[in-house]
Amino acid sequence: MCGIVGYIGNKRAIDFLLDGLTKLEYRGYDSAGVAVNCGDEGIFIEKAVGRLDSLKQKLKGRLPNGTIGIGHTRWATHGRPSDVNAHPHSDCHGNFVVVHNGIIENYLPLKQDLISKGHKFISETDTEVVAHLIEENYHGDFLLAVREVLAKIEGSYSLLFMSKFHPDTLIAAKQDNPLVIGLGENGENFIASDIPAIISYTRKTYILNDGDIAIVQKNNVQFVNRQGAPISKKIFHVSWNAAAAEKGGYEHFMLKEINEQPKAVRDTISPHILNNSVNFNELNWNSDFLKNINKIYIVACGTAYHAGLVGKFYIEKLVRKLVEVDLASEFRYRSPIVDENTLVIVVSQSGETSDTLAALKESKRLGAKTLAVTNVVGSSIAREAEFVILTAAGPEIAVASTKAYTTQLILMFMLALYMAQLSKSIPENEIERLINLLKKIPAQISETLSDVDPIKTFAQMYGFNDDVFYIGRSLDYCVALEGALKLKEISYIHAEAYAAGELKHGTLALIVEGVPVIALATQKSVYEKTLSNIKEVKARDAIVIGIAAQGDSQLSNYLDHVIFVPDTDELLIPLLTVVPLQLLAYYAAITRGCDVDKPRNLAKSVTVE
Ligand code: G6P
Repeated sequence: MCGIVGYIGNKRAIDFLLDGLTKLEYRGYDSAGVAVNCGDEGIFIEKAVGRLDSLKQKLKGRLPNGTIGIGHTRWATHGRPSDVNAHPHSDCHGNFVVVHNGIIENYLPLKQDLISKGHKFISETDTEVVAHLIEENYHGDFLLAVREVLAKIEGSYSLLFMSKFHPDTLIAAKQDNPLVIGLGENGENFIASDIPAIISYTRKTYILNDGDIAIVQKNNVQFVNRQGAPISKKIFHVSWNAAAAEKGGYEHFMLKEINEQPKAVRDTISPHILNNSVNFNELNWNSDFLKNINKIYIVACGTAYHAGLVGKFYIEKLVRKLVEVDLASEFRYRSPIVDENTLVIVVSQSGETSDTLAALKESKRLGAKTLAVTNVVGSSIAREAEFVILTAAGPEIAVASTKAYTTQLILMFMLALYMAQLSKSIPENEIERLINLLKKIPAQISETLSDVDPIKTFAQMYGFNDDVFYIGRSLDYCVALEGALKLKEISYIHAEAYAAGELKHGTLALIVEGVPVIALATQKSVYEKTLSNIKEVKARDAIVIGIAAQGDSQLSNYLDHVIFVPDTDELLIPLLTVVPLQLLAYYAAITRGCDVDKPRNLAKSVTVE
């Protein structure tokens, strides 16, 4: 979604601004802009619809020299993508500029009021209101004016302000959208909405909390709250490797991230397994805590929601507690039955997804116990939840989520084992058996990744079909949903996943000669039934590609193409079966010449509703 960068120091600001925005491109955007304070010449602003390259073209030969500036990549919400709607936005006289992530919910009445006072608006955005509001409220004190503005606006935001009258200061404010200050070494400081924008410059950061206002100068950073009272904050050292945010030799971030799964999964498992038992120090629950929980919700969006569906299987099977899985955008509007005996687990790679964050806040309001499963320490969701457990996937850049999904599955599995240990819902030797199988998963993913040629061939053969169907039962169905989503997201092929037993209730009408069907058949408890469904589609001359566990001797008798993954317990096999589906989507997108890492209309982190 949108990205914010800011610089103040002794160097030319534009160089960091353009570099920082490039690092944030993965968040998805449709226009970009920069503003640099050039002293007597006033504030230089340039904006362009489209990719950053369009902005760079416009700046060719006229890069501003000022040493303080702000920049933005916009993902349109209020007003279509255009040069004029791109940020930064300015007041009537070009004295104040602002960039904004989020939504100002009460912008219309504020705009009408400002227009009646003589302000002239040029864009359709909610953000422009903020620039005019600051002009209206400025009487010589920059910080006071910002505080006055914050008192008037409602909604979610991270905001970064610059003023012609204060060439030594940037002011940043945060509410429900991330913002981080990077501390430079030699009289310079950085501001960004995401850590990847600044990690090649500094690892010393301050992470803003809701309500914080940062006053950033080249040798000094101070914080106050909305009332203007000083607050002290701790420095947060970023441990991410800068190279981890680069493509590292792969053609696309997505392929790199698919290949990083053995390590991501291993790193997620290892801190929690001790002497053949599962340990979550950060939870420190006991059997009484679990006894008091009579209902569990798992709430998430997109791929994280699909991980939640698998999590339901894990918890219900191993802990014997009822679990409901909900899309975050639905959950909060349907009066969910939540009270102090409910545990709400939110799953979010970014920890910033607006719907998931809102569902979390609503659950807290209703008195639930809340647990976040996220990949980003210090994210809004991580800070909001009562309990947090972290996936160790490292930064995920490609819009289509891969290693975040597998690490989410791992955490859900270990969480279910942990709960089973506490509640003694399964025998100890069964827990040990599952832990031993879990430890083998990283190597088994590597094995699955070592033979991609047949998958590439299938993608080339069927990459130009209009429709693809995915079928499976039980956990195979959950993985089919994720496989279909991957294909839709990046190759733009219409893909649908069906519980194989549901085919005869409608979808079978669509299965005709030559339609590709990906059939997962790894769940031993429903294997024979899945096989019958596979025969049903085969009898209608569909082209069926099977996904089976090594040792399956039956499927090849019926199908021409079968992809085998290493065998393991049926609870753990989704971690393996999803890998060929991720690769199939990737190579289909390549075959069709799609922009794999930045699919059209999609964003990595959806921080507006
Ligand atoms: C967007 C991304 C998806 C992701 C979903 C939820 O739609 O494109 O890949 O699964 O948001 O994101 P989260 O960060 O909450 O897991």
